[in-house]
Parts: sequence; C-alpha cells; structure tokens
Amino acid sequence: MSALDPRLLQRLRCAQRVVVFTGAGVSAESGVPTFREKQSGLWQRFDPAELATPAAFRRDPARVWAWYEWRRARILAAQPNAAHRAIAELARHVPQLTLITQNVDDLHERAGSGEVVHLHGELARPRCAECGRPHPAPADPPLEPPQAHLDPPRCASCGGQVRPGVVWFGEPLPQAHWQHALEAARCAELFICCGSSLLVQPAASLLDLAIEAGAFTVQINAEPTGREETIAVVLCGRAGEVLPQLLAAAWPAAHAKPAP
Ligand code: OAD
Repeated sequence: MSALDPRLLQRLRCAQRVVVFTGAGVSAESGVPTFREKQSGLWQRFDPAELATPAAFRRDPARVWAWYEWRRARILAAQPNAAHRAIAELARHVPQLTLITQNVDDLHERAGSGEVVHLHGELARPRCAECGRPHPAPADPPLEPPQAHLDPPRCASCGGQVRPGVVWFGEPLPQAHWQHALEAARCAELFICCGSSLLVQPAASLLDLAIEAGAFTVQINAEPTGREETIAVVLCGRAGEVLPQLLAAAWPAAHAKPAP
C-alpha cells in the first residue's frame, strides 16, 4: 500500500458519521470464497441461474438447499480475520459508524461488530418459503464435498419448505435493512467501500448516493473495480492488511507497541 493520504487520516479522525460498506473480499482472508474472481469465484464454478434465483429453488429445492448448507458449513468453520476486527475497532473510534454488508456470513458479528446491516440476508437465518416464518438453521451442515442434494426441512407452522435466508437474484432487498442503508449513505461524511466489486445493484448504488450527498469516499480493494475515478482515495491491497494499517496511522497511540 502506498503512503496514506493525510486527507483520509484527517477525515477518519474528525468524521461524525462513517459508513463502511463491505463485500466478499473482506471475508476472503478467512477462506470464504468471493463471487467474481477468476478461478476461485463462486460464480466462476457454479451457475447462479441454477442456485440463486426463486425459480431455481422451485425447480430443485434439494440442490439449492444443499449448496447453501455447504456454504454455511464453510463459514461455520471459518474465523474472522484482521479486516473484520479492524472494522469492529473502527466503530469504537468513530461517533456513529454504520456497517453495511453484502455478505451473508456472520464474521463481522463474530469479530465484535454490533449492529450489521445485512443487505443480502444471512445464511444462518433460514425461513419458510411459503409463510416466511423463521426456521432454526440445522446443526452440523455437511462440510465437504458439496452434496448434490439435501432435502430442506419443513416449516413447523405450515409444512412449507424452508429456504436459505439470503436474497436471490430478482428479489427485493430486506426493506428495513435497505432503508437503514439509504439513510446512512445519505448522511455519511466518510464512505468506505471495502472488498466489493461494486457490480451488484441496488447495493452498489449506495456509493453513488453518498457521493451525491457530498461524502468523502475511499475504496479498499485487492484489485481495481473500475470506480476509481469517482472515489477520492483508492487503497489497493488486502483488506486484512490495509485496514489495520489505516487504524494504526489514524490513532497511533492506541496501536503503539509496548517498549521492549
Ligand atoms: P465480488 O466477488 O463481486 O467481489 C469481491 C471483491 O473483493 C473483488 O473486487 C476483489 O478484488 C476483492 N477482494 C478479494 N480479496 C480481497 C482482499 N483480501 N482484500 C480486499 N479486497 C479483496 O463480491 P461482492 O462485491 O461482495 O449477492 O458481490 C456482491 C454480491 O454478488 C454478493 O453479495 C452476492 C453476489 O452475487 C448475492 O448473493 C445476492
């Protein structure tokens, strides 16, 4: 990472309202695959039309359920990384931090972040596909290899099939979370995008909203996203390295190493 922009450090120290907007890249260093990276991305290996749409679930619920349970098992086996921990720590320095994630894992929460706005739902919160009633996530989902078929549980209330608690392509975002995210983006003085390709809408439109409202914007990503010209400070690198460096530079006293 190149030397940190002093404007960014100043904004970090002074901003009252900060939004951190995260994507799959934040969990990558925990061993959770991203979606669009060449070779390792989930959507390079699996077809979203067969796994991540309401029609796919209607066609073959056991295939869809098996795939999401495999993903849930991988997340249960993963640990939060330095990026998750740095974001949780940032919230302790900033008067009002809103953490908005597209991730369906719970690694932010396990790293100590309190309220997390989950735009794309949560794997740990399945619900009935018919009546919407929450259903407890089954214990011990199968870890390896991804089973081709696994019958979803039945809803205790209406007997309908239980579906993963995530947002699929073509579905609206959870209303309350989306409204909260819109409000935070409109009011943000500093908007930090971290580990997202910024390709999926409407989530990525939060960045545009924040820019229109006058926020100072930052991107932390291992690769360019194509949004660099619209973003004030671009930090190229792994989130688990860049974020701790950023915190240490902004609040050196809190990160001073004890004298030997
Ligand atoms: P993507 O897979 O589209 O993008 C991941 C981004 O993370 C890429 O830009 C990588 O360069 C970057 N990246 C990878 N490792 C990194 C690291 N260690 N540090 C920093 N950056 C890193 O994932 P998202 O943008 O999150 O939606 O994708 C958005 C949505 O698309 C997901 O929520 C999912 C998917 O379809 C649903 O499932 C509804």
